[in-house]
Amino acid sequence: MKYSLTCAALAAFAVHNVFAAPNISSIGKRQAGCEAPVELSGAENPFVGRKLHANSFYRSEVEAAVEAITDPALAEAAAKVADIGTFRWIDKREVIPTIDAVIKEVPCEEILGLVIYNLPGRDCAAKASNGELPVGALDVYKAEYIDPIREILVANPNTAIALVIEPDSLPNLVTNIDLQSCQDSAEGYRQGVAYALEQLNLPNVVMYMDAGHGGWLGWDENLEPGAEELASVYKAAGSPSQFRGISTNVAGWNAWSLTPGEFENDPDGQYNQCQDEQRYVTIFGAALEAAGMPNHAIVDTGRNGVQGLREEWGHWCNVDGAGFGVPPTTETGEELCDAFVWVKPGGESDGTSDETAERFDEFCGYPDAFKPSPEAGSWHQAFFEMLLTNANPPIA
Ligand code: BGC
Repeated sequence: MKYSLTCAALAAFAVHNVFAAPNISSIGKRQAGCEAPVELSGAENPFVGRKLHANSFYRSEVEAAVEAITDPALAEAAAKVADIGTFRWIDKREVIPTIDAVIKEVPCEEILGLVIYNLPGRDCAAKASNGELPVGALDVYKAEYIDPIREILVANPNTAIALVIEPDSLPNLVTNIDLQSCQDSAEGYRQGVAYALEQLNLPNVVMYMDAGHGGWLGWDENLEPGAEELASVYKAAGSPSQFRGISTNVAGWNAWSLTPGEFENDPDGQYNQCQDEQRYVTIFGAALEAAGMPNHAIVDTGRNGVQGLREEWGHWCNVDGAGFGVPPTTETGEELCDAFVWVKPGGESDGTSDETAERFDEFCGYPDAFKPSPEAGSWHQAFFEMLLTNANPPIA
């Protein structure tokens, strides 16, 4: 597989952008947030002039990983990953009390990325990330998850925050609604996402609703139903002012720009025009616009440095041979794409490969999935080292 010229050029820009020298005068007198309330809006790209924050939680995971690496060159590269902006996932209620401290470490020239990820009956079409909240627990989701998060964000108006809202949830309702578990979850997903969008619609926040990836809602027959599904939830939330569009490729493996796309020459390739994320952002973006929803995007490039690894496009679990991708940057070359970001913290597992575990999903046992792998979200040292070794562009 060969990257297109565009992509190589973007990678060069990105490296320059991310490793630009910090403003010396701001070091040493860093304080929490800005001096005045931050005012963002869905009408503007919040990443312009604001670097994605490298949060201390991921930093501590990476620093522990560095200690465990014996090869000095690899350890040196690994240490640099701690400085790369990465989203922090709020995947259970018990994580909520840690948000305030993370917000307080964000300087004014940065933006904190958080993932809202705790819908009742989460991960309805898979097993690895089934959540702590059972189907039907919408009141708990509202009162014990979204409301306390809102309280913390309201109390910290001087910090810019980007939210990715509920990865995989609405896309599952579009393509996996034949599963009983997704049917049972559907109303809770729609109402839960709408509630999150309403309550987290705050001046210092910009929100992106998750839209899966090109190999998911990008199929010809999924484009319009997908756009309608997302747009109807956006409208049910009252078309919030801080809503900017979608997140794509979250925890995914697709290239930003690759011709031909990895699966383009498959027999059914003709039924999907979104063979890379750039084409997905553009084509699905047009469907969103037609459905009446804001359509800017952020794209997770955290683990998409290497292509040609998956047996099938839908394979999502700990893909063997993967590498870190382009670090966060606004140099995307695409008007609709606000930024490349790292959403999935590289080194955290997608799911266990232990067949006897309750949350074992068969995708994590496929030949193209790295084994052994720990539970979803747990640190996966060998996978982290592989991402580092295969990073494209290299981490240096
Ligand atoms: C897991 C979460 C974790 C997230 C980021 C998901 O697959 O279910 O627990 O926070 O990945 O690693």
